[in-house]
Amino acid sequence: MAQFLLVTDLDNTLVGDDAALHELNQQLTQHRQAHETRLVYSTGRSRQSYEQLQRQKALLEPDALVTAVGTEVYFPGQETPDPHWSAQLQTHWDRAFVQSIAQQFPELIPQPESEQRPFKVSFFLAAEMAPQVLPALAATLQAQQLPVKLVYSGGKDLDVLPQAGDKGQAMQFVRQTLGIAATQTLACGDSGNDIALFSAGEERGLIVGNAQPELRQWHTTNPSDRHHLAQAHYAAGILEGLYHFQFLS
Ligand code: GLC
Ligand code: MG
Repeated sequence: MAQFLLVTDLDNTLVGDDAALHELNQQLTQHRQAHETRLVYSTGRSRQSYEQLQRQKALLEPDALVTAVGTEVYFPGQETPDPHWSAQLQTHWDRAFVQSIAQQFPELIPQPESEQRPFKVSFFLAAEMAPQVLPALAATLQAQQLPVKLVYSGGKDLDVLPQAGDKGQAMQFVRQTLGIAATQTLACGDSGNDIALFSAGEERGLIVGNAQPELRQWHTTNPSDRHHLAQAHYAAGILEGLYHFQFLS
């Protein structure tokens, strides 16, 4: 067995089945001790909201934490986001302008202030409205020459992000910083904001069995041997993926 890097989403991927989480944590702890395997969390939550989850669930300490849908990276001991990553997101980003455009769309309900971050503007958008509103918003932003990314997850959350920032690009930044090959990396997720993890590059991908329709649909239209749709749910799905790609045996 060799060192690998596990990059995992939290809500409804790593977290969702406490017994399975416990089992996965045990395997990972052994592997980290024996092979210097690395663990990275990549969540849509803010760091504040991550810390709430940390108080509720038995989470291992990660080797890096990616929050706010890939727009903030924290290495151990860092209290503020990694400045090298933040610097890459500045280009073409105009947060106030994104907000002013979004105000033209009454269907977009701003999320709580704690989830509004320097490089992430987030809304609730009802699933029935999304097919009309998303293309119209994209067209309006494009007409203003504002290159941003629209990420829709779980049939309810819309994140507007800088073009240079998403979970996939943040994963590659962290992976390169940790010095681990893409082929020794497994990324895991369950919803729309995880699609970037699977489309970033040569990393292996695991979609948990309880994944949201938008991610299943993406998987169906983008078939690849690099991706595995698990039978098992939550952390048990992650374990299934680690065996499938022979990171564990
Ligand atoms: C988390 C965040 C929220 C975001 C969602 C989807 O729930 O708190 O702001 O919209 O993930 O990325
Ligand atoms: Mg999730």
